[in-house]
Amino acid sequence: MTEFRQARWKEPLIFERSTPGTIAYSLPTVEREVQAALPKPMESIPKSLRRRTPLELPELSEPEVLQHFVRLSQMNYCVDLGLYPLGSCTMKYNPPINERIVQNPNFSLLHPHQDDSDIQGILQILYELQQWLGEITGMNQISLQPAAGAHGEFAGALIIRAYHAEHDELATRREIIIPDSAHGTNPASAAMAGFDVVVVPSNKEGQVDLQALKSAVSERTAGLMLTNPNTLGLFEQNIESIAKIIHDAGGLLYYDGANLNATLGRVRPGDMGFDIVHLNLHKTFATPHGGGGPGAGPIGVKESLSPFLPIPIVSYDGTRYYLDEERPKTIGRVHGFLGNIPVLVKAYAYILQMGRRGLKAVAEHAVLNANYIMNSLKNVKGYSIPFAPDTWRMHEVVISAKPLLRETGVSARDVAKALLDRGLHAPTFYFPAIVDQALMIEPTETFSKDELDRFIEALKEISNLAYDNPAMILKSPQHTATSRLHEAKAAHPRTMALSWRMYQKRLRSKPS
Ligand SMILES: Cc1ncc(COP(=O)(O)O)c(C=O)c1O
Repeated sequence: MTEFRQARWKEPLIFERSTPGTIAYSLPTVEREVQAALPKPMESIPKSLRRRTPLELPELSEPEVLQHFVRLSQMNYCVDLGLYPLGSCTMKYNPPINERIVQNPNFSLLHPHQDDSDIQGILQILYELQQWLGEITGMNQISLQPAAGAHGEFAGALIIRAYHAEHDELATRREIIIPDSAHGTNPASAAMAGFDVVVVPSNKEGQVDLQALKSAVSERTAGLMLTNPNTLGLFEQNIESIAKIIHDAGGLLYYDGANLNATLGRVRPGDMGFDIVHLNLHKTFATPHGGGGPGAGPIGVKESLSPFLPIPIVSYDGTRYYLDEERPKTIGRVHGFLGNIPVLVKAYAYILQMGRRGLKAVAEHAVLNANYIMNSLKNVKGYSIPFAPDTWRMHEVVISAKPLLRETGVSARDVAKALLDRGLHAPTFYFPAIVDQALMIEPTETFSKDELDRFIEALKEISNLAYDNPAMILKSPQHTATSRLHEAKAAHPRTMALSWRMYQKRLRSKPS
């Protein structure tokens, strides 16, 4: 086991570190005469709009601010530290060059109210990104507007609505079919768009059960939402038959493109028969998923659905780029201005760097790594590979710790916690729900074989220890900044204090 100790600072909240009068900036002194001649901005603000109470911001010096955040960062784990095999999240290395590019003032100082004629450069980038994503997905038109995968799904579900409304069928087409292996956002998005969700089970091979699908389809079917490869990391072999069943019934096919890392440059959703697709740029294209701030979930469609796309679409008339907002059938706006520009620019830069061959290589290595992990863990005591253990995985593999739990009392959650003690991030656990004691591992393409081996060895060592001395595992994690949290309390609104004000209120209401 690699020696690992995470920093454990007794770091107060930044408000608690505050010393009145301390400042983190120093400006050159201004001569009194110059000061007198300067405009007085406060005086131009009407009295009724001026703040009456002070802001109560923490007051610290520059080094204190830096120390505070560096200490917090040392008590955390990040994708730049090592493997982050969180299944269905594609936590891969995001080259810092892309961050540098978006920080360029030519991007960062753009104002959303600038006239199209002033921002031809960024419009060209967005236009080309739309074209490239269209080519990558096999779709005819892309809108870059949605800010996340789930947001793209919601926009897609609204497009399904708009399409059936146009054909006067919305009153009957009330159902969206979703496989039981789907990501939770799929049924949530369909329900938010006003549809009823019909779940179809997976068969023994972990694929959509065609018989069950046929029985679920009817004149009420508005569409199907599917991710391929699915969340078990398996490619839906029958995708063409699935597409035919749905299309013959008058429904549309929605592709959840969050798992595109597995298929980049190899297979295109448009060629598989999908009508609508969203992508998680903040997974596959150089922005980390989750915790990294807002993302971008562009949505693409086949020609016939193009009029419904969210506006604006960036267009080109042969001489200039402009925002096309004259689209009477559009589902409307789903984001302010042009979308989440920094994420879009990073994706553009990433695609340029990788090129056609590089993107293909991403998919090949991501798949190779997932299969290397699956084969290395196949015969390890305590773990099993549910659903078609002899079938190649795509970007991720789901293993089950059910035998380990049965034989030692150590659960998938305990294995995940024990990995933290070994300086590794845990895989996603207990998802997908169709696997008992699931550990969902997505290694991505960006980690070395040594790093994958470190992870595999850690899982083997945890299993051995579980059989020898399960109590040791149940105590994990012990070497991290915080020990095991109470899962329910840690996420309960009654116990969480998400702001300084809330925190103070909690303190005041605590019995002394
Ligand atoms: C398969 C799948 N679909 C959709 C989503 C939703 O994406 P987002 O978190 O950007 O809303 C995720 C996110 O993890 C996912 O894994």
